[in-house]
Amino acid sequence: TNDPLVIFTPSGKRGHFPEGTPVLTAARQLGVDLDSVCGGRGICSKCQVEPSFGEFPKHGVTVADDALSEFNKVEQRYDDKRGLQKGRRLGCQATIQSDVVIDVPAGSQVHRQVVRKRAEARDITINPAVRRYYVEVEEPDMHEPSGDLERLRQALEKNFDIKGVDADLHVLQTLQPILRKGDWKVTCAVSTGITEGTGAEKPAILQVWPGYSETPLYGLAVDLGSTTIAAHLCDMTTGEVVASSGIMNPQIRFGEDLMSRVSYSMMNEGGAAEMTRAVREGMNALFTQIAIEAEIGTDQIMDVVFVMNPVMHHLFLGIDPYELGQAPFALCTSEALSVRASTLGLTIHPSARAYILPSIAGHVGADAAAVTLSEAPDKSEDLVLLVDVGTNAEIQLGNKDTVYACSSPTGPAFEGAQISSGQRAAPGAIERVEINPETKEPRFRVIGSEIWSDEPGFADSVATSGISGICGSGIIEAVAEMRMAGILDASGLIGSAEQVGTPRCFLDGRTNSYMLWDGSADGGPVISVTNPDIRAIQMAKAALYSGARLLMDKFGTDTVDRVVLAGAFGAHISPKHAMVLGMIPDCEIDKVTSAGNAAGTGARIALLNVAARGEIEEIVRNIIKIETAVEPSFQSHFVNASAIPNSSDPFPILGT
Ligand code: FES
Repeated sequence: TNDPLVIFTPSGKRGHFPEGTPVLTAARQLGVDLDSVCGGRGICSKCQVEPSFGEFPKHGVTVADDALSEFNKVEQRYDDKRGLQKGRRLGCQATIQSDVVIDVPAGSQVHRQVVRKRAEARDITINPAVRRYYVEVEEPDMHEPSGDLERLRQALEKNFDIKGVDADLHVLQTLQPILRKGDWKVTCAVSTGITEGTGAEKPAILQVWPGYSETPLYGLAVDLGSTTIAAHLCDMTTGEVVASSGIMNPQIRFGEDLMSRVSYSMMNEGGAAEMTRAVREGMNALFTQIAIEAEIGTDQIMDVVFVMNPVMHHLFLGIDPYELGQAPFALCTSEALSVRASTLGLTIHPSARAYILPSIAGHVGADAAAVTLSEAPDKSEDLVLLVDVGTNAEIQLGNKDTVYACSSPTGPAFEGAQISSGQRAAPGAIERVEINPETKEPRFRVIGSEIWSDEPGFADSVATSGISGICGSGIIEAVAEMRMAGILDASGLIGSAEQVGTPRCFLDGRTNSYMLWDGSADGGPVISVTNPDIRAIQMAKAALYSGARLLMDKFGTDTVDRVVLAGAFGAHISPKHAMVLGMIPDCEIDKVTSAGNAAGTGARIALLNVAARGEIEEIVRNIIKIETAVEPSFQSHFVNASAIPNSSDPFPILGT
């Protein structure tokens, strides 16, 4: 062919096109990601490109007889009014005249990527469910009677290939004056519709503005936890998080943990409905707060994605969680849900959509699915163990071939509950512990202070908070350090003062305890690690480890390549101590990482990239669910795993 060759960067897509072909047309034919909100009318400037080799002569004029890279009329008008950066052209106006290399800058790509910092984590592709479209609608005509909505629908189909779009009543109520005010030119917010999966729905017009409008569209990613509700408000065009906020889950007054809320609903007539109302009211209060912070109206929020555990899921949706309280723990549905936000009692945009990620199994909820979406074990070459610890550990092990999932009842010991001096992670709690293996003397650090207990200035630094107890990460480090210092044997027994050679060990009832801190001289607490504390930690870590071990059996392996600790707990725990304790299987220490709030990130991915929704639904369908309670080997793994680190499994890398 003699037609000019066009190469797009960074995609590398190429093809020959007849002279005079608009760049946007060529991009579309080649499947190049070039944005357009106005359908090529030279209004939105979303289609900007940069010719990096070769140039674009004035419309219809060849290279030979004109100065290069001159604007055509529409472009000139745009440049005069709003200004175009030097070297930039409007892709819908500039035409191909000769061989050319055309760069599509990041800002002109629809599906641009938000790159995440950690190498293993997936990047976020911006491809929101709700987008803006500018159209020019045919005026009504006596000879061809048709409704204004029908002609708007035709315009959307003709320009953007959006077929059979719906519109809610509130849109119809203002449609006619808006069309006339905009002189038949309007901008629509359209939810593009989901064609596959359980969340399938038709495209719909959510809002119409007269003329060309750049009103930002917002969405919310919400992590509904049993203790806190956290929400991120995102600009759906840029992917940017514009505000984040959180509140306590108002359901706490019905019970601290999940099971007590399930029993509240069982024992109280209407209890489930009461909790549904409480969480929805809390949610609306949070959304109002976050909108005020971002200085927008709640009615600018058009899409919400939720992740949560199964009990929160049922209570939020208004489904009685009764069945989740007893074996076999059947979910009402594990499928993803796509509903109107208004049906959940949410007072945001009247047509706003809400999407809830699928659940993996009875105790492994949409929050775990969100962790999967964020950490992508299903795309990993390495065998990766993914652990999210709360009162239940949600465990996934897999690689690009197979992913297994299970949950294991760790109980609240890792959160500092059931521990004699235990407390929540708050100022005054011991969070870091080291024990000198020679002298058996401890040093520690307290939340709210950067200074270790044996350093100058420590007393002053904790003067306000005091030293009140020990939190989850503190007790894990204390037990691991006691083991390494020889204060504790592999079975979990604390030695006597004579055996260990320190007066810090003392007989406490029928067993020994180890004293970390004696604050009694100043009226403070005595903080010791007791034998029952060690037992509680042994039970919790054995539950976690045997769940992981069960999944490792499926792969026939004793070690894993990587361990990812998700959630708030994962962010605070020290990998070395977790491994000494035998909480997690043997692995190179530097391959144990914290994923931070992976569930929240997963929610954000599903919010900003509508394609990720179908993707996670598919991944979850393929995850192999293991029910620990019915696996015969779980019990023997559990027994072995209560030793520190373990009585039968090798820890070759750790060197025990
Ligand atoms: Fe809108 Fe080119 S597509 S200006």
